[in-house]
Amino acid sequence: MKSLFLCLAALLFILSNEACQPNRKEQSYMTTSVFGKLPDNREVLQYTLTNRTGVSMQVINYGAIITSLRVPDRTGKIEDVVLGYDSLQGYVDGTTYFGAIVGRYGNRIGKGKFQLDGKQYQVTINDGENHLHGGKVGFNKVLWQAKVVSSSAEPALELQYISKDGEEGYPGNVTLKVTYTLTDKNELRISYEGTTDQPTILNPTQHSYFNLSGSFANTILDHVMTIEADRFTPVDKGLIPTGQLAEVANTPLDFRMPTAIGTRINDPFEQLTFGKGYDHNWVLREGGGQVRKAVELYEPKSGRLMTVYTDQPGMQFYTGNFLDGTAHGKNGVAYQRRTGLCLEAQAFPDTPNKPQFPSVTLKPGQVYRQTTIYQFSTK
Ligand code: GLA
Repeated sequence: MKSLFLCLAALLFILSNEACQPNRKEQSYMTTSVFGKLPDNREVLQYTLTNRTGVSMQVINYGAIITSLRVPDRTGKIEDVVLGYDSLQGYVDGTTYFGAIVGRYGNRIGKGKFQLDGKQYQVTINDGENHLHGGKVGFNKVLWQAKVVSSSAEPALELQYISKDGEEGYPGNVTLKVTYTLTDKNELRISYEGTTDQPTILNPTQHSYFNLSGSFANTILDHVMTIEADRFTPVDKGLIPTGQLAEVANTPLDFRMPTAIGTRINDPFEQLTFGKGYDHNWVLREGGGQVRKAVELYEPKSGRLMTVYTDQPGMQFYTGNFLDGTAHGKNGVAYQRRTGLCLEAQAFPDTPNKPQFPSVTLKPGQVYRQTTIYQFSTK
């Protein structure tokens, strides 16, 4: 009798324990660990999101930075496709914006000056004579507040940052929420929601550097890309748009048909000389504010395909031209020129000084919204 009882108890124990174990193939999950400490002793946490198919990403609450994104190749081999550092120190010292949310203004504002409601503002100059990616301490260099908002099917993390009136010269207290969701369709869905208490400008974006090959020893030059855009915004030497919208037709910026990135990157074309490669804003075909397909990026050897969807008017495509081997990333790898590329969905650069460009003004009572999706598959 006693042994029967013991047997039953053991059986019950095994069954209940099994039930507690998430079936890792059928359920998404999220884990948290300490990533490091900031110089002022504040703790930085790393969240690991895993979806039902085994695709995973890691995010830290410093800079809302995506530190890894692991997706399968055509044989099912899961590898990391974003550049980054092994430790917090790399992100604190780094000047590359790896994986971060940049803001308040993604990309450049000419001479850091703009007018709003008749008032002149001067924001930090941190790129030659211009303002870049929010200034000296942009959204990529601050601690965000993280909250797990997952559903059982899809792990999701909401990050919030309150940017104080006057920060880097910008007017108004701005609250920005960014939610990263890893869907079971292998999409990284990024949704933004921003508010302000005074008229201001807001144009955040995601600055991950992708390399779909599975090894950061490779460049991105053989990645084949398509951009749903007929025009781009030509720039001057300081990478500030001239204000024109130029046709991509008959230029090395024509990606309307799938083309390997390396095919024309070194062409003697003035815009490429100014950018030291591709570092331009493509004017995406009008989408009426709806999320639509913007880019397809395919790496032929691994078979990985990334499709980018966004509701934004512009896409900054940057080929890691400023990487020069000095940034030592994950596993100590020195990231050479063009080992990663960025696809930054946003409004156009220098919009506050170009009335003909889509507006980035945000007023009290309005809500800034953006949805951008990076979807992973293979072919
Ligand atoms: C953006 C800019 C580039 C460069 C990188 C960060 O893509 O357009 O010029 O500043 O960010 O290095």
